[in-house]
Amino acid sequence: MKIIDNLEDGYEILKENNISSYKIDCEILMSQTLNISREEVLLNLEKEMKEEEKEKYFNYINRRKKDVPIAYITKNRNFWREKFIINENALIPRPDSEHLVEQALKLIKKDKSKRILDVGVGSGCLSISILKERPYCECDAIDLSKNALKLAKINANLHQLSDRIKFYKRDVDNFYNGKYDLIISNPPYIKKHKIKYLGTIKYEPKIALDGGLDGLEVIRKVISKSKYLLKINGKLILEIGYDQKYKVMNFLREKSFFINRIIKDYGNNTRCIVSTNKDWKFMRPFKSNLKRNRSRHHSDRPFKRGPDFDRLNGNFANNDNSFRRKINRSNGNVQKLISKYNDLAREALSNGDKILSENYFQYADHFLRVSLEQKEKDAS
Ligand SMILES: C[S@@+](CC[C@H](N)C(=O)[O-])C[C@H]1O[C@@H](n2cnc3c(N)ncnc32)[C@H](O)[C@@H]1O
Repeated sequence: MKIIDNLEDGYEILKENNISSYKIDCEILMSQTLNISREEVLLNLEKEMKEEEKEKYFNYINRRKKDVPIAYITKNRNFWREKFIINENALIPRPDSEHLVEQALKLIKKDKSKRILDVGVGSGCLSISILKERPYCECDAIDLSKNALKLAKINANLHQLSDRIKFYKRDVDNFYNGKYDLIISNPPYIKKHKIKYLGTIKYEPKIALDGGLDGLEVIRKVISKSKYLLKINGKLILEIGYDQKYKVMNFLREKSFFINRIIKDYGNNTRCIVSTNKDWKFMRPFKSNLKRNRSRHHSDRPFKRGPDFDRLNGNFANNDNSFRRKINRSNGNVQKLISKYNDLAREALSNGDKILSENYFQYADHFLRVSLEQKEKDAS
């Protein structure tokens, strides 16, 4: 039988089984069977197929009709700029997770050497993509799943990165191997009771999906542990669920992380959060700020993220230390700093950037507290 005849039989079988992507799926499975590209399949529709090729193709079709994801049938998946080997032991890399890679690459210059930790490495798609583009970086990768780690090691070998990525079978709770410049994680974040309703992911490992009762159990663990695993001013990039933004932001702030960016995917859903580990000796829980922000007035002045934002954000810890030194000399500086942060916060708010404004209000409040403490000390 010709390729076209087998393709059309495949279309019928998948259509009958409600696989809406039946056409493209059959073409991919045919290209996998014949080990040629999809374009070549379409250019050779009249070519005869051997009996064993036909058998292989219909084996694939029979798995696909049961809704087994294509990547688990073809055993590979493209992600970022690489091809990865995939199997049922790890989550299939999602295009949305490329946002996390993009953010990591923005943070690390090409010629810099950084220590990275990948929490929940799965197939290895995130850390391997980053290491391929940043030749001086090294990565520790942990996962609870022994089988996911096996797969990640295969992918690291495939991409000749075995000397720059070390694997540990460990819960993030029980891991310590020094401090990192950057922690990346796409943790499981689906609510336990919702998993069974998500038909398309039923073949993927539960451990890669199950975020506990509220979907946030592993996220909270990763954030709490990152506090200890990150260097001061180290960055945490977390992928989260589309409805978890505010809860995760509050938790990050409770742990004294500065929120740098919230990244949306192409569907306009929140996809990941970039934050910075600030020294918590100098920060307080965020909750009190939330109430205060609501009562503050907007300013009409437009606000632009310019050098000011980067300077203040990037140098917060240094700023804080030098401020502590200066405060003994002149209390005028404190007032200036407080009003500077308040101004920036109001400008950000007027520009609709709530996150940035909350961060700046938090800074202003922090310096106000430091100044009051200092006044108390001076008086006693
Ligand atoms: C959503 S998958 C992400 C896989 C891969 N990083 C990706 O983006 O495709 C989450 C991974 O975290 C692992 N995991 C779950 N709980 C963990 C924990 N407490 N500590 C370490 N890894 C964990 C799972 O085994 C799974 O491989």
